[in-house]
Amino acid sequence: MTDAALPEPMLAPAQADRGDHEVIYRHTRVVRITHWINVVCILLLLMSGLQIFNAHPRLYWGQKGDESDHAFLSMLAYPTGEDTFRGETRIGDLKFNTTGLFGATVHENRGLPWWATLPGERNLATGRRWHFFMAWIFAINGLVYLVSNAVNGHFKRDLALSRGEVAPRALWRDILDHIRLKHPTGEAAKRYNTLQKLAYLSIVFIILPLMVLTGLTMSPGFDAFAPWLLTLFGGRQSARSIHFICANLIVLFIIVHVVEVFIAGVFNEIGSMITGRYRVKLGDHG
Ligand code: HEM
Ligand code: HEM
Repeated sequence: MTDAALPEPMLAPAQADRGDHEVIYRHTRVVRITHWINVVCILLLLMSGLQIFNAHPRLYWGQKGDESDHAFLSMLAYPTGEDTFRGETRIGDLKFNTTGLFGATVHENRGLPWWATLPGERNLATGRRWHFFMAWIFAINGLVYLVSNAVNGHFKRDLALSRGEVAPRALWRDILDHIRLKHPTGEAAKRYNTLQKLAYLSIVFIILPLMVLTGLTMSPGFDAFAPWLLTLFGGRQSARSIHFICANLIVLFIIVHVVEVFIAGVFNEIGSMITGRYRVKLGDHG
């Protein structure tokens, strides 16, 4: 794609740099602050959520769950001695020995190990308190991000996909560039690439809102106020399963996101999310 076909770059150039680089102003203050608050919220929500999951490490579809065999995912513990266990994870009819990770550490019957949960020891009440407190901060922070960026034009300018970008040939080229770890320079490096936009759009407008909605569906108090949520998600157990699956998709997003940050240049990338200033290598690879 030629530069003429590309949308306007993210933000105004900050200053010219010496040599073969220029410095641009890439992220506004509101994006930077809400991003890092979000990182803390997601980490604490995930770990406290896994503490809640451990209280009943089985997932079901529909309105009701029980101890019987209709869970589509379960992490179970079987005694193998006086105080030893074998952990077994079941997905549908498939069974995996996951001792030490899921189902049971050798000496303890628990869905996920201590390092994945908040608090580390088994304590559902404290986990729930953390989860519901952080959910408020997460939701308010998310609203600030959504409203301010809708008003200041960030979504339209930097995240919206143009028709040219989603054309199969352009998309394929972007995928190949990613596989070859080929990173854009010059004008193209000043904006998010197509796969990056797709990932951010899905996380911001699909996965994170789904977390809020399915989380609210699990709250009996909120169901009294909005009973249509239970109908929308097909019951409380379905909402819980979607909440859990989306939490896993968030983990997957974070792994790819952080790997990309390292590949693209960890100091420049993280520095830009802290100060807003980003060094772009001059060149013409678009
Ligand atoms: C406003 C946002 C959120 C709300 C209102 C919310 C609400 C809830 C509720 C009500 C539960 C079930 C609590 C219980 O049964 O005692 C839950 C569980 C859980 N949450 Fe959230 N949550 C939110 C965001 C998140 C986020 C962002 C993550 C992950 C990154 C997350 C991960 C989990 C996990 C893994 C569970 C355990 C699933 C289960 O076994 O029930 N939650 N959440
Ligand atoms: C330690 C973990 C994380 C690091 C180091 C990190 C780093 C970054 C960096 C450097 C950027 C700017 C990319 C660029 O300019 O090309 C960015 C953008 C972004 N990150 Fe993260 N991130 C982390 C965790 C997360 C999490 C947990 C989420 C959400 C679940 C997230 C969502 C986003 C989004 C949506 C953007 C685009 C923001 C916008 O322009 O509106 N990040 N991240």
